Amino acid sequence: MTSLSTLNTRTSIAHASIDQLVREFGSPLFVFDERSLRTQFRCYRDAFVSRYPKTLFAWSYKTNYLQAICTLFHQEGAAAEIVSTMEWEKARKLAISGERIIFNGPNKRRDTLREAIIAGARVNIDHFDELQEIEEIAAEIKHPIDVGLRLSLDVGEKATWARFGLSVDSGEALRAVERMVASERLRLRGLHCHIATFVLDASRYANQVGQMLRFAYEVEDRFGWRIDDIDVGGGFASRCRLRHSKPGKERRIPTADDYATAIVGALRQHLRPGHEPELIIESGRALVDNAGYLITSVVARKQLPDGTPFYVLDAGTNLLSMLALIEIGVETVQPNDDSPVKSMLCGPLCMNTDIVRHEIDLPKLKRGDQLVLSPAGAYNITQSMPFIDYRPAVVMIRENGTLKLIRAREDLTDIDRREDPLDE
Ligand SMILES: Cc1ncc(COP(=O)(O)O)c(C=O)c1O
Repeated sequence: MTSLSTLNTRTSIAHASIDQLVREFGSPLFVFDERSLRTQFRCYRDAFVSRYPKTLFAWSYKTNYLQAICTLFHQEGAAAEIVSTMEWEKARKLAISGERIIFNGPNKRRDTLREAIIAGARVNIDHFDELQEIEEIAAEIKHPIDVGLRLSLDVGEKATWARFGLSVDSGEALRAVERMVASERLRLRGLHCHIATFVLDASRYANQVGQMLRFAYEVEDRFGWRIDDIDVGGGFASRCRLRHSKPGKERRIPTADDYATAIVGALRQHLRPGHEPELIIESGRALVDNAGYLITSVVARKQLPDGTPFYVLDAGTNLLSMLALIEIGVETVQPNDDSPVKSMLCGPLCMNTDIVRHEIDLPKLKRGDQLVLSPAGAYNITQSMPFIDYRPAVVMIRENGTLKLIRAREDLTDIDRREDPLDE
């Protein structure tokens, strides 16, 4: 990845020439580096499993649900973490068994929920309406159902995710358990909590685990239910600069070891003797972001009224939803001896908000030059919009150096195949 203050030139990604990639697959183009994905997964897995062997990674589909990416993480041993009917169907299409699917989220469709329960998925309840629905499903199938509960906890993160799950502090989480006990249709088996995304302070997780275990033992002492799974969600940071951090004041990005030390340390501190629940990690961004790139091309060079040069690129906010959170790294591709000047990078949309970088020192670029934007692997693909133009191709550079088209560029058939035009 580019160093974010100075501009690098990059002519290849994982030994594949950018020139060749663009000639073969066009521009813009998303590119993933298989070796980097596997290395990063193993780095995280080893950091946790070496400290706490009973750890399960569940790949967060929403972070990137391209089949090739999910398959790669499943090959590495990850289960699936899903939050919708679409993601359920995706995981099942990849032949993931129900017991290896963790079903989260506030909007589980009833038919999917029922199917997932029958298949043995681990369902984490988000609210009381869902609890009631699962009670009804238990009555229909004439069988008690093991469930998890998503907890809402205050661990001191600024961006609060309090609207997900049931609050421990307000007593609603405990009321949900009391209701399960009373109905005799559900049995609490797991606790889940996802505190935020891009969590830069690993000690937040120690706080989270402490609160989860306190709640687990309150449940055990009151109702005799021992918790088998402690699911700490995702949120580990990738290596990039947040948009609102001042240059030079960026916070250090914790490593896999930092997160694992905090989480497993808290487990060891709070677990009762003889209790060894499965630890579940739903990391998304930290595993995939830095292995993904977006190659874009200069469409035009223009000038603002004050003389600032700006470039229109063939990719913008339609493909890079994460621009809202991060300042994306930029690397040039063609050799260029021109002195850098303050410039702006815009996307191709007819929208004033379509800006890739507000201010960046760039040498004079010309139409057809490429830039490599990164990290681009997390959320950008799943949140890309076919707004104004087609979504681009995605290529994976395999470990053996071959190039694999893992999603073709869209065409009009993808866009209008479900439409029914007016007849004359
Ligand atoms: C429940 C849950 N698990 C896991 C994730 C993955 O988070 P991240 O990509 O920040 O690791 C998310 C993201 O929103 C989530 O909501």
